[in-house]
Amino acid sequence: MMKDIVILTFCFCAFGRGLGVDGARGTTRFFWQVSDFHFDASYNSSHGDPTKMCHEGSVTNSTQLGIFGNYLCDAPWKLIVSAMQAMKDFYPDPDFILWTGDSIPHIKDTDINLEKVYINIANVTDELRKTFPNTTIYPVLGNHDSYPSNEMPYDISISDYYRHILTTSHWDSLLVDDCQKQFQKGGYFSISPHVGLRIIALNTNLYSTLNTLTDHLVDPADQFQWLDGQLDDARKSKENVFLVAHIPPGLFEKIPNFPWFHEDYNKRYLDLLQKHADIITAQFYGHEHTDSFRLLYDSNSTEKPIGCLLLSPSVTPWMSTLPGVGANNPSIRLFEYDLETGIIKRYQQFYLNLTAANIDGNATWLQEYDTKEDYALDSITPHDMQHLVDSFYNIKNNIFQRYLIFNSVSQETSPACNSSCFQQNICAITKLAVGEYESCIAGSKTTNNPSSTQNPDFTTKHHEHDNDFPKFLYYVFGAIAIIIFVIFLIIGFLCRSRRQKVVPPRYAKFGSLSVN
Ligand SMILES: *[C@@H]1O[C@H](CO)[C@@H](O)[C@H](O)[C@H]1NC(C)=O
Ligand SMILES: *[C@@H]1O[C@H](CO)[C@@H](O)[C@H](O)[C@H]1NC(C)=O
Ligand SMILES: *[C@@H]1O[C@H](CO)[C@@H](O)[C@H](O)[C@H]1NC(C)=O
Ligand SMILES: *[C@@H]1O[C@H](CO)[C@@H](O)[C@H](O)[C@H]1NC(C)=O
Ligand SMILES: *[C@@H]1O[C@H](CO)[C@@H](O)[C@H](O)[C@H]1NC(C)=O
Ligand SMILES: *[C@@H]1O[C@H](CO)[C@@H](O)[C@H](O)[C@H]1NC(C)=O
Ligand SMILES: *[C@@H]1O[C@H](CO)[C@@H](O)[C@H](O)[C@H]1NC(C)=O
Ligand SMILES: *[C@@H]1O[C@H](CO)[C@@H](O)[C@H](O)[C@H]1NC(C)=O
Ligand SMILES: [Zn+2]
Repeated sequence: MMKDIVILTFCFCAFGRGLGVDGARGTTRFFWQVSDFHFDASYNSSHGDPTKMCHEGSVTNSTQLGIFGNYLCDAPWKLIVSAMQAMKDFYPDPDFILWTGDSIPHIKDTDINLEKVYINIANVTDELRKTFPNTTIYPVLGNHDSYPSNEMPYDISISDYYRHILTTSHWDSLLVDDCQKQFQKGGYFSISPHVGLRIIALNTNLYSTLNTLTDHLVDPADQFQWLDGQLDDARKSKENVFLVAHIPPGLFEKIPNFPWFHEDYNKRYLDLLQKHADIITAQFYGHEHTDSFRLLYDSNSTEKPIGCLLLSPSVTPWMSTLPGVGANNPSIRLFEYDLETGIIKRYQQFYLNLTAANIDGNATWLQEYDTKEDYALDSITPHDMQHLVDSFYNIKNNIFQRYLIFNSVSQETSPACNSSCFQQNICAITKLAVGEYESCIAGSKTTNNPSSTQNPDFTTKHHEHDNDFPKFLYYVFGAIAIIIFVIFLIIGFLCRSRRQKVVPPRYAKFGSLSVN
């Protein structure tokens, strides 16, 4: 009897879930995002040298190296296949798959050539097609998918690259004719998978700070103009829009003052996002290999979130050579969305514990987290994501600590993050323009000195992507922070001795934050 009730309840819940969270008519559906495979055909799991991307070397200790990959190296074929198989096992019949680019390993341009780039991408394309023969797959190019790396051509007149991606890399097996025609112009396309939804796939590598082919242009491959037109059309057709691209706008959360786009492109891109924010219900990116997100605000009201950009982590575990960035566990992401409103209801992040997989000789993919359960999010809307950011400030609830662990796909299980690290994350998440980001960082460091929150002259160095913020200023800000902290300690001590309570200012809470 009891058992029957349990089963009935289970069926009811399962059925209720199928109806959608709002109880609306069966509108909840699923799709996958997978990003940054970085397949390295030269990974040698028996004789690879981890200091040389696990390419053939003198090292013979295969137990140390790992058959599924190594945190110092890009993905071996076994990991690529394992990730795709895990997608198939967890959810075999998604509405579609968003594949957000970067198939090529992080090796020197001299160690590869254009022909090998095309073939490497074809290898990944074929395997994905083979694993999901009947599923629509929407691919976008990553900055490593070009040759030389980052040099994405802006026009068919200078390269037949885009045509080769379709033919030699077999993307013609993924895209319908109409999309192929658009794609040849500059690696972008737009398509409606079903009534009411439009997917716009962009080639944001054209805007990269590292792309020297496009750094002098106004609208590379006419993509801005095309995007604006597509969004106008979507509005007229009453469609909700998913934007899909490899490189996100804004700045990297792991490195101080590290923008991805040239500043003028970043501005134009954000302008378009703001202009059409009411119909863009979600945006999906890769590139960073970390798990993060961005909030876009109304141009008239910096308090009003109007857009949310989701940054999926990678399949490759490779530890970036950028200082302080670190490695990550391989990951895949399953989204649940409302067919009618185009709103993302939740996502589940799955991952492979690479250390455990190599020890076991067996890849067991697990759920890492679920936005409903682990972030308490009802849906992935700008409004709800703003709540998530707000909850980061409350160290008692551990939400920021969770975000930090998820940021490396649980590769770092007790990440340390002091007040400047905290602010670096907050400012990257909420400020997508370099100037606003710099003010955000400066403002947090000198709260008592409003005049110094104006940080002029960020316009001169936007074409160098690197961190050229003078180093000594960190010490100056650090010293000021310590002095303020000591003053508060003294005041606190004095007040305590008078049996009075002192409420510390908000930022002071993080003076001692160390997540572990
Ligand atoms: C790995 O390196 C060893 C030693 O040089 C070589 O014999 C072997 O064929 C390589 N394996 C692969 C898969 O390349
Ligand atoms: C291989 O690595 C294992 C695990 O780190 C270690 O215990 C062993 O001594 C190493 N063997 C050799 C030959 O270096
Ligand atoms: C990649 O493609 C090339 C050319 O078709 C083929 O020789 C090679 O075996 C493929 N590699 C994998 C891992 O599928
Ligand atoms: C794909 O579709 C074909 C033709 O409809 C069918 O025969 C095949 O079983 C399907 N494959 C999978 C994996 O669903
Ligand atoms: C900002 O305000 C101006 C003037 O008040 C208005 O024309 C414009 O539409 C507003 N922009 C947004 C994004 O609300
Ligand atoms: C991954 O596996 C290793 C080895 O079993 C273990 O020490 C580590 O805690 C695991 N990490 C997570 C996030 O479970
Ligand atoms: C790997 O895991 C699967 C499923 O858990 C299990 O059936 C299989 O025996 C395992 N293989 C090895 C070599 O441990
Ligand atoms: C925070 O940690 C970083 C890296 O460990 C360090 O460079 C920086 O000085 C620290 N900042 C503060 C305010 O403690
Ligand atoms: Zn990448």
